[in-house]
Amino acid sequence: MSFLRSRFLQAVVVFVGAFVVLRFGIRPPAPWSVITLYMAIVAMALLIFVSSDRDSWASFVRPIWATLTEPRYRIVRAVVVVGLPLLLGYYAYTQAAARPQAPPELRAVHPAPPDSIQFRGKDFNISGAENPLRKDPDAFARHVAAGGAIYVRNCMFCHGDNLDGQGHFAHGFNPPPANFQDPGTIAMLQEAYLFWRIAKGGPGLPKESTPWNSVMPAWEDRLTEEQIWQVIMYLYAATGQQPRRWEATH
Ligand code: HEC
Repeated sequence: MSFLRSRFLQAVVVFVGAFVVLRFGIRPPAPWSVITLYMAIVAMALLIFVSSDRDSWASFVRPIWATLTEPRYRIVRAVVVVGLPLLLGYYAYTQAAARPQAPPELRAVHPAPPDSIQFRGKDFNISGAENPLRKDPDAFARHVAAGGAIYVRNCMFCHGDNLDGQGHFAHGFNPPPANFQDPGTIAMLQEAYLFWRIAKGGPGLPKESTPWNSVMPAWEDRLTEEQIWQVIMYLYAATGQQPRRWEATH
C-alpha cells in the first residue's frame, strides 16, 4: 500500500470522496452552487495540506511532473492534453447552450383604459369619472361594508382574504390575481380605471395585454354599477391605499 503514501493520491482520494459525500450523501440533494462552494473550500484545504512542508509538496508534484515530462507517460500525457480541454470545452458549452424555454409573455399590466365603455347597454365615460358614492361621506361606512360582502362572495377566492392575491385558486393562474396590497396595483390607479377592469375583466383587455389569458372575470352582468363602486371602496379601505386622482385640469 505504499502508493497511498503519495500526497497526490491522498489529495485525489479526499477530493473525490468529498464530492461523493456532498453529491450523494445529502438528502434532499444540495444545489450545485452549494456543492461547488464546498468543493472549492475542500480544494483550498487540500492545497494547504499538501504544501505544509517541502517533502509533502515534492511528493504531491512528483506524479504531475512525471506525467508532463517522462517519456514513459507519453500516452497518459496525450490523453490529459487532449481530454482536459475537451472536458472544459464541453462544460463551457453546456453552460452557454440555449435551453428550451417557454417564450416570455410580455403584456402591458396596466394598459390605457378606453375613454368610454358600454355598461349594460349604456355609455359610460371612464375618462374623468369619479366614484359617485364618495359624494356622501355619511354613507361611507355602509358602502364599504356592502363592498366587503361583495368581495367575500365574489373576489376572495382569487384575490385572497388579505387582498394580497393569494386566494385558494390563485396558484393555478398565470398571470396571477392582482395583489391589492402591492403599491404597484390599485394605489397607482384611478377608481374609474378599476371600474373598467372589474366590469370588463380579462376579456375586456385591449391588444397590448395579449396573450389573453387573464382569468379576471367580467362582472358587468353580475354586479350592478353601485355594487362595483362599493367593492372598489372596500378595496381601498381594506388595504389603506388611496386611489389616484385625475389631474386638476379635468
Ligand atoms: C377567477 C379569479 C378571479 C376572480 C374571481 C376575481 N379576479 Fe380580479 N383579477 C384576476 C386576475 C388573474 C387578475 C390579473 C390579470 C388582469 O389584470 O386581468 C385580476 C385583476 C384584477 C384587477 C386589476 C388590478 C390591476 O392592478 O390592474 C382588479 C381591479 C380586480 N381584479 C378586481 C376584482 C374584483 C373586485 C373581483 C370580485 C368582484 C375580482 N377581481 C374577482 C382574477 C380574478
